[in-house]
Amino acid sequence: MAIAISQLVKRKRQGHPLVMLTAWDYPFAQLLDRAGVDLILVGDSLAMVALGHPTTLPVTLDQMIYHTQAVCRGVKEALVVCDLPFMSYQEGPIQALRSAGRVLKETQAGAVKLEGGYPEMIEVVHRLSLSGIPVVGHVGVTPQSVHRQGYRRQGKAQAEGERILQEAIALAEAGAFTVILENITHDLAKKITETLSIPTIGIGAGPHCDGQVLVTSDVLGLSSWQPPFAKVYTNLQESITNAVKTFSQEVRDRQFP
Ligand code: KIV
Ligand code: NA
Repeated sequence: MAIAISQLVKRKRQGHPLVMLTAWDYPFAQLLDRAGVDLILVGDSLAMVALGHPTTLPVTLDQMIYHTQAVCRGVKEALVVCDLPFMSYQEGPIQALRSAGRVLKETQAGAVKLEGGYPEMIEVVHRLSLSGIPVVGHVGVTPQSVHRQGYRRQGKAQAEGERILQEAIALAEAGAFTVILENITHDLAKKITETLSIPTIGIGAGPHCDGQVLVTSDVLGLSSWQPPFAKVYTNLQESITNAVKTFSQEVRDRQFP
């Protein structure tokens, strides 16, 4: 059964972890959905893992919508969340409304995600929520800020940890229904998870979150590089390379067809 947004808080209270993975196209979305993941994120990481860009910054709203449409064609059960890409919401609430509105009108996604918990972004989240648009927040390492922040773990310094905690609280108060915690110290993720009534979903944030998300190409061994906190569950690069080499050999040897 599809998980309703209203059920997520219940899942947190019951202590049943939420499972989220990323997708960028129809076949992978269909596989993830049939395997029973709760949430599918059309992450702007697709800029890197599906489009070959060096960061998430270049992907456009039109491209995110295009990929989200393909993902949604493969999904029957999971809740699909679409990342709002860099510069499609940072101008303020009106730009964010237009962008998120397009996502909900032009795709079957049920929610959008955006990065940051600074006061201007809290205003954006509040405005989207008031307009009926479900929002997932994202704090800690926020890859759209790579030029300012890099990818280093956040929350080691006490002041930084306190700021991230306050950002997560403010996001929840502004109406976010879930918050992604990316690459923060495990103690900080635990504290945020215990403080918020909405679920936290961690990536590189340790075992105390209410759910876990990873980038699917990392999980499947399709990435040429993955962050140290990712776990590689199968080596698709190797399987695919072997299949292609075998096909090539059989064609060259006139064994196939
Ligand atoms: O774009 C993405 O894949 C994400 C996850 C890492 C949370 O934002
Ligand atoms: Na993202």
